Amino acid sequence: MHDITHLLRCPLCGGAFSRRDNSLVCEKRHTYDIARQGYVNFVPGQKEMFYKKELFESRAKVFGAGVYAPVVERLTEAIGRHVKAGNAVLLDAGCGEGYYTKAVCPGREMTRIGFDLSKDAVKLAAKGPKMAAFFAADLKRIPLQDHVVDILLDIFTPANYAEFARVLAPGGVVMKLAPRSGYLGELRALAGDRLRRQEYDGGDVERYVHEKMDVIEQTAITYTLEVSQETAYHLARMTPMLAGVDVDTLDLSAITQITIDETLYVGTVK
Ligand SMILES: C[S@@+](CC[C@H](N)C(=O)[O-])C[C@H]1O[C@@H](n2cnc3c(N)ncnc32)[C@H](O)[C@@H]1O
Ligand SMILES: [Zn+2]
Repeated sequence: MHDITHLLRCPLCGGAFSRRDNSLVCEKRHTYDIARQGYVNFVPGQKEMFYKKELFESRAKVFGAGVYAPVVERLTEAIGRHVKAGNAVLLDAGCGEGYYTKAVCPGREMTRIGFDLSKDAVKLAAKGPKMAAFFAADLKRIPLQDHVVDILLDIFTPANYAEFARVLAPGGVVMKLAPRSGYLGELRALAGDRLRRQEYDGGDVERYVHEKMDVIEQTAITYTLEVSQETAYHLARMTPMLAGVDVDTLDLSAITQITIDETLYVGTVK
């Protein structure tokens, strides 16, 4: 893994860091420990959110089953088309347990960085081979220097376009994925009127993306694939779309296939 100390900046004062033993110390002596697993927590005291450890563990199972492998392929192609630089810096904002951070562009030499507000997610992400740097941080104050990121992934995660504009290098692009109307349709049909939000068409996100970004490319990624009962179990537990539904009461034996339906936006921040 690359040492990314020179790319970081203190979330409190914006100062540069230097590394001292197992800590990062800024010019004003704000100090953050580097955990044994290699991640840094820039939001100590952050409370647990809706996204709990179990949700990220279920996400990891679903990713491991290959349900999102075609999405990774499409992202890899898009990065190949739009980012030519050698050793590009990739930032996965709201990376969760780090699947996309590690899986896109297999074999391509890149500096991969992922961060998430959830420390549980970042802990999971930092497990295994050290091919990316991970830290816990808030989108509102990304602890990175100005203009250092070539590819910014924003996958099913809120965006902060002011911060994205600040950290993106000249020519750097945002790749944003958001759900479309058919996304996990089989599960949402099963939950029926217990869903908080019956209809979802992604229209609000689309309008907002076009307000904030010059979109260079916009493509739908849509496919349906067979899933095992185990994967169906984890799918029901990995998605905020079923928030508020008691998934234990769903008869998941009805789920034998699942539809993935997303929009990929590639663009620069206005
Ligand atoms: C639906 S998950 C997607 C995670 C990952 N991109 C993926 O596709 O597996 C949304 C993520 O956004 C993170 N998140 C929400 N608000 C955030 C914020 N203000 N700063 C950083 N991450 C945030 C959550 O902790 C969660 O991991
Ligand atoms: Zn500082």
